[in-house]
Amino acid sequence: MTKTVLITGGNRGIGLEMVRQYSALGYRVIACCRNPQSAKELLQIAPYALLELDVMKLEHIERIADQLKHETIDILINNAGITGPPNEEFNWKNPAPWLEGLHVMTLAPYIMAQALQLQLEKSSSKLVVNISSVYGSIALNQGKGDYLIYRSSKAALNATTKCLANHWKEKGIVVLALHPGFVKTEMNPYGKISVSTSVKEIRKTLSLVTKKDTGTFIDYLGNPIPW
Ligand SMILES: NC(=O)c1ccc[n+]([C@@H]2O[C@H](COP(=O)([O-])OP(=O)(O)OC[C@H]3O[C@@H](n4cnc5c(N)ncnc54)[C@H](OP(=O)(O)O)[C@@H]3O)[C@@H](O)[C@H]2O)c1
Repeated sequence: MTKTVLITGGNRGIGLEMVRQYSALGYRVIACCRNPQSAKELLQIAPYALLELDVMKLEHIERIADQLKHETIDILINNAGITGPPNEEFNWKNPAPWLEGLHVMTLAPYIMAQALQLQLEKSSSKLVVNISSVYGSIALNQGKGDYLIYRSSKAALNATTKCLANHWKEKGIVVLALHPGFVKTEMNPYGKISVSTSVKEIRKTLSLVTKKDTGTFIDYLGNPIPW
């Protein structure tokens, strides 16, 4: 049976490579991005569906849930992310960039999962993958307090992942937080691995996920990461 995967932030970086690889394997890929009409690479790949989604816009999420009401979603990948300004550029008198980080990387993945719950429940896989980061690990946060906005938003995403996993355990919906590796993208020009390697390993890791993995924090190779 053909599986359906929905990917947010599908127009570049890790998200685009996910769309590329899952499409090439014959998955029904629902690629979401802010500006579908200018997403040249996505248009070339021509996934099963290409939908407009700014994850900060509730009306976009509601529209997508409605457009997809007859679909089954096997894997929801909450991939969209931003780094936010570095600490030295953040002015505490203007909390907007921090709120944006929390909105895009913590709140939106939760809202997406809630909005698409019915579609996930129809699947035999029922998998929600929140793309997190080792920077969201509190245990590994040993530096000088850099990337405050990014780290706190991903740490909050991790807590959200655990709550949702616990909440949906009985329903059999698996929710996990996944670090994709240090991947060379616009977000991380100093990344150590390519998008191609990261996504290939992520796919392999996700193909081995079972119900007992719900509520875990793992990397692209499937290794656990301390919270
Ligand atoms: N690269 C790494 O080393 C690394 C490491 C750990 C975790 N991650 C995580 O992996 C994910 C993908 O990162 P990446 O490296 O591929 O970054 P990227 O190349 O900067 O891509 C980020 C994606 O998120 C989208 N996005 C941002 N805000 C959005 C919004 N409000 N609504 C919808 N889409 C939005 C962007 O769309 P636009 O083009 O419209 O801006 C873009 O498609 C992120 O969650 C990131 O935190 C990456």
